[in-house]
Amino acid sequence: MSDMSVASTATRKAFDAQAIRRDFPILSQQVNGKPLVYLDNGASAQKPAAVLDAMDRYYREMHSNVHRGAHTLGDRATAAFEGARETVRSFLNASSTQEVIWTKGTTEAINLVANGLAQKLKAGDEILVSHMEHHANIVPWQMVAERTGAKVVPILVTPEGELDMESFNSLLSNRTRVLAITHVSNVLGTINPVADMVSQAKARGIITLLDGAQAVPHFQPDVQALDCDFYVFSSHKLFGPTGIGVLYGRAALLEEMPPYQGGGEMIERVTFEGTTWNTLPYKFEAGTPAIAEAVGLGAAIDYLNGLDRAAMESAENALLNRANQLVETVPGMSIIGTAKHKVPVMSFKIEGLHPSDIGTLLDQQGIAIRTGHHCAMPLMDFYGVPGTARASFAFYNTLDEVEQLFTALQKVQRLFA
Ligand code: ALA
Repeated sequence: MSDMSVASTATRKAFDAQAIRRDFPILSQQVNGKPLVYLDNGASAQKPAAVLDAMDRYYREMHSNVHRGAHTLGDRATAAFEGARETVRSFLNASSTQEVIWTKGTTEAINLVANGLAQKLKAGDEILVSHMEHHANIVPWQMVAERTGAKVVPILVTPEGELDMESFNSLLSNRTRVLAITHVSNVLGTINPVADMVSQAKARGIITLLDGAQAVPHFQPDVQALDCDFYVFSSHKLFGPTGIGVLYGRAALLEEMPPYQGGGEMIERVTFEGTTWNTLPYKFEAGTPAIAEAVGLGAAIDYLNGLDRAAMESAENALLNRANQLVETVPGMSIIGTAKHKVPVMSFKIEGLHPSDIGTLLDQQGIAIRTGHHCAMPLMDFYGVPGTARASFAFYNTLDEVEQLFTALQKVQRLFA
């Protein structure tokens, strides 16, 4: 996504958004009497029929509990469930499925890691996050800091919405134990230079976690190339079902960490004298897992693997470029987050208008965006705004929809002028 040039006509032809939209049943409906224009993909993305069908087929033909082994349905369910884990491993280029742990989502994955690292933290240690983090990558660290006496320290952000590398360099010290940063900002769309940052942190023996929730819908990360210790994301933003997410963790660190929850599946042997833990990844998967959801996520990744990813990224860049060109057509509109490297996420404000009024009036025209603080209050404070309006695009959005958004924004602005 670093190439911000408008996609060539040839590329746009090769990537047929109209054909792709037919794979997403929800997109063809009317909302408030208007064709739905869904631009709230950063909050949650829509699902292709392939995902719905895979989950339906799983429940109709193979549902049973997994890893219990005693009958055919159990074997089918286990094969589908573990097959999905392998699909995720390959998506992330992790070296082993032992390093792929199912969680409820990004939030639970970060809580699991923060909790697991608590035993390595002591008073005076520092956990480096950034000013552009989602609350899910701030609050779990604050909670563990409270328990251990460690301190959460934020890397500053520039007015354009990039991480301030001078601030990062000056904050790295022999007190830093953890670097936990977002790969892509949910508010600004900024793609952070995480590989460089991880490499600097590793050189000092700092443990690294990357929040990939907003990155994976737009490009494929390679955890071995990134060399991070942990990488987390949610299925529902990656065109898969809700209720499941992924924690990639380096095996050596996962081995050292205590389990997050106790229960079935995560044990090797239980006695009243003491209990021993199952091997990875099951040590972190207490209770019956989200089996159908894992199957659905696997189907979402298979679906994405069938697309031309390079063409998809060019098409997304074209959407963002067109949106940027149209900003000047709405009096008083300005963008928050103008980083050089961005995914197609556009946070904005319009002078004299409250973000929630913009959202309501767009909804009346069938256009769905998100408004508010986006679970990033420190970033709102930095920009001195209570919230923003945010249009977040996916590969199934079209240039026509970008035009419709701006026509609607012009209308909203005139109404209040
Ligand atoms: N974190 C999601 C968003 O940015 C919900 O909208």
